[in-house]
Amino acid sequence: MKAEEKENVSDIHLEDYLEEYEALQSTAEDMIFDGGRRKESLNGAWHYAVDWYDTCLRQHWYEENRYDDAGFTLPVDYSFEEWPVMNLPCCWNTQRELFALYEGSMVFTRTFRYEVEGRERVFLKIGAANYVCRVFLNRQYIGMHRGGSTPAYFELTEYLQRENRILIQADSTRRPQQVPTENTDWFNYGGVYRDLELIRVPAIFIKRFQIALVPDGTFGRIRARVRLSEPVDEKAELLIPELSVCERISVVNGEGEAVFEARPVLWEPERPKLYHVTLLCGEDRVSDQVGFREIRTKGREILLNGRPIFLRGVSCHEESVAHGKALTGEERGETVRLAKELGCNFIRLAHYPHDEDMARLADREGILLWEEIPVYWAIRFSREETYEDAQNQLQELICRDWNRASVIIWSVGNENADTDERLSFMKRLADCAHRADETRMVSAACLVSFEKLAIADRLAESLDIIGLNEYFGWYAPDFSQLPKLFANSSPEKPVIITEFGADALPGHHGTVQDKGTEECQAYVFERQIQVLRGIGYVKGMTPWILYDFRCPRRTAAIQGYYNRKGLLSPDKQYRKKAFWVLQAFYREDPVPPAG
Ligand code: GCU
Repeated sequence: MKAEEKENVSDIHLEDYLEEYEALQSTAEDMIFDGGRRKESLNGAWHYAVDWYDTCLRQHWYEENRYDDAGFTLPVDYSFEEWPVMNLPCCWNTQRELFALYEGSMVFTRTFRYEVEGRERVFLKIGAANYVCRVFLNRQYIGMHRGGSTPAYFELTEYLQRENRILIQADSTRRPQQVPTENTDWFNYGGVYRDLELIRVPAIFIKRFQIALVPDGTFGRIRARVRLSEPVDEKAELLIPELSVCERISVVNGEGEAVFEARPVLWEPERPKLYHVTLLCGEDRVSDQVGFREIRTKGREILLNGRPIFLRGVSCHEESVAHGKALTGEERGETVRLAKELGCNFIRLAHYPHDEDMARLADREGILLWEEIPVYWAIRFSREETYEDAQNQLQELICRDWNRASVIIWSVGNENADTDERLSFMKRLADCAHRADETRMVSAACLVSFEKLAIADRLAESLDIIGLNEYFGWYAPDFSQLPKLFANSSPEKPVIITEFGADALPGHHGTVQDKGTEECQAYVFERQIQVLRGIGYVKGMTPWILYDFRCPRRTAAIQGYYNRKGLLSPDKQYRKKAFWVLQAFYREDPVPPAG
């Protein structure tokens, strides 16, 4: 339908009501550095409506057109202030029984007061909304964001008034062309589920601030990069008081970089040393808590600060029984405590970016992290828009967590069939990650080639570390094949076993042959560890998974719509037998033979 025709067509005859809301997409390019900034929370009570048919978008509720041209009042299908209230951020599935399985759109609205201060600019930050969100302020469409687990930033400056009405529409619908697609092995929580904040910045502000140890093996040089919101020349100043660093950075045309000598205490799990870093530039000032460490590979070794390390890990989803994907700080702390109780120095945050506070917590607690974008299973690898979506989520994740010492690996996906289209798509993503960040490793969770019974994924050539999901003893029942797999493989780089495991209903007991019992799961862990500990090029493992999690695909009696491969029950209170098997191995402090 032509644009001019749309003017005269009632909303009930619109063919493509979404078209006008594809404009003004917030992407990684729109992100601003917000460390140490003053933030005004918009968390709390928002009025909401379940908008199953996207009537808000079709009828432009946000314009609040209540009168026709002749001044007569018009009937409307909304009443913002009379709608019920939901406390954001949250996953709506956990808020009311009625919404437990709801997937679609909801509209949230509230008012807020704003007092302008000087020539400042104001941004809205949405920590995450699944999957697409659209923002409206004072009757204006501000923009949209695509991607269910990365932050979105929208500039509000020119539309703000003293009294404001904001609307956010969130659409959690799964779609084949999205990243992930409509088919995953986890529950699709919906909502605006991470913090909502107003951020005030000067007219010219610090948009990017990256600081890290130069990965040159000297552990004695730090690089700081600055990008301003405008292409102007400025003098920036970097302060690290504890290192007596006061480094001037010359910013030309909005960009600046400095490399300087320093001897920081290196960040590592056993001693997660963080430094307070401040950056001043023009009227702006930001800060961060930063650990300095180097991660790299050398042949088949993973080197942390130049020393070989074995990554004693575990995988986890971002989920709690009470809050779904909208974990509280206490729940994130519980995950880290449980991983440490297991003897872990590493966590695979599967299969999408977890809350940014998880990486900050890991920085403080000394846990290394694998972070991942949800390029999961059968992505539409031949569709350029799908690639743009995946790349943007990767760039948003890297931009968000660039200064986090705990994050050592960017993963570009999980368990994708090794086709030509997938290889092209994911090689582009791996190259994108390498260009965006020279200080970290790039990996992916690859599949076993059962045709060759070997590690033979063509994507491995573009990775620094090969992740491998193998379920011998479970989906591939014959354990005798596992040692053959490794004997048939000769990777030239380190391998992390990113998944192995078995389902076990907590408290369900039987023999090691009885699938679904704790004894069977514990036996799978014993046999897996027995083989893996002797493979010289296996330099880490993140067994699947720390705790049981909701999964609509799992309907067997022992599953009850849960994936039961957890080492703990869904409420993280009950430890299954396999928990102790893995803990015993990790407490041996295994360092497999050099390979
Ligand atoms: C796959 C996948 C997981 C899934 C697991 C399972 O490896 O990566 O997301 O939950 O297998 O089948 O339990």
